[in-house]
Amino acid sequence: MARTTRQRRHTPVEEELPAEAAERLALMAEAARQREDVERNRAAWNRWATDYCMPGLRAWQADEPFWGLWELPESELNVLDEVGEGTDVIELGCGTAYACAWVAERGGMPVGLDVAEAQLESARMLLKQFGHEFPLVRASADEVPFADESFDIALSEYGASTWLDPARWVPEAARLLRPGGLLVFVVNSSYLMTCTSEEGYVASSELVRDYFDMGRCEFAADNTVEYHLGHGDWIRVLGANGFSVEDLVEVRPREGAEARYDFVSADWARRWPSEEIWRARKAR
Ligand SMILES: C[S@@+](CC[C@H](N)C(=O)[O-])C[C@H]1O[C@@H](n2cnc3c(N)ncnc32)[C@H](O)[C@@H]1O
Repeated sequence: MARTTRQRRHTPVEEELPAEAAERLALMAEAARQREDVERNRAAWNRWATDYCMPGLRAWQADEPFWGLWELPESELNVLDEVGEGTDVIELGCGTAYACAWVAERGGMPVGLDVAEAQLESARMLLKQFGHEFPLVRASADEVPFADESFDIALSEYGASTWLDPARWVPEAARLLRPGGLLVFVVNSSYLMTCTSEEGYVASSELVRDYFDMGRCEFAADNTVEYHLGHGDWIRVLGANGFSVEDLVEVRPREGAEARYDFVSADWARRWPSEEIWRARKAR
């Protein structure tokens, strides 16, 4: 078949690049892909924001803070035990910002950061409704517009901790924290992820995803990208950024607990950990 000039012009010339240039190109391509992931997730959360208003309102109204898929109470998990008068706390991926409200109610000074404007719009409404005032910032958690060492605690409950590459958000959390600062984050457990296939949605009782190939997980049906690490990789990325792990809570729901989401049943979560709460300390 005859080739047109146009086709020829668009055919890349295959040339061997010098190693340094090839490395730079690869880094640029990776950075572009990361930006694209952020935009995909941002669009998804802008679409889903209205669905999260009612759960957000319920959390704002709660007498006692609760965490994660199984709503275990703060009195059991002590996520906020270091929050006191004037503690500077940033929530990376705050959604409706109920955790920030819980921080404020303890005298802390929260900042809610989120990439999706619709989520922040819901948060703003709730702040107004409950008479709270604290800053809400629209940014991606890998590019946070605050100076180094501005916070005592960085918190993420299925926010940046799920939706952003840990190689990007963990260094940013380390930069933002003061020496001795605390990083607390909640994620799906690696058990849950290895039992959830790429196509499927509901956790099975078989290992269906390769543990070693978790990392960046695409969910084609809703055009989103999540990041899930195994324990060794979490420990390494935290350690490389000056954190030491203080605790890893593998959450077990109470007997008779009811599932809030359809991707994991209570029976499953009573047998294997469905979520993890990590506590890591920045070196002094
Ligand atoms: C599951 S919500 C977490 C908020 C709250 N804890 C909750 O469970 O509803 C996930 C949030 O992370 C935000 N998010 C996703 N990617 C982000 C990024 N790159 N930077 C900051 N926030 C991000 C989303 O917009 C969303 O509001």
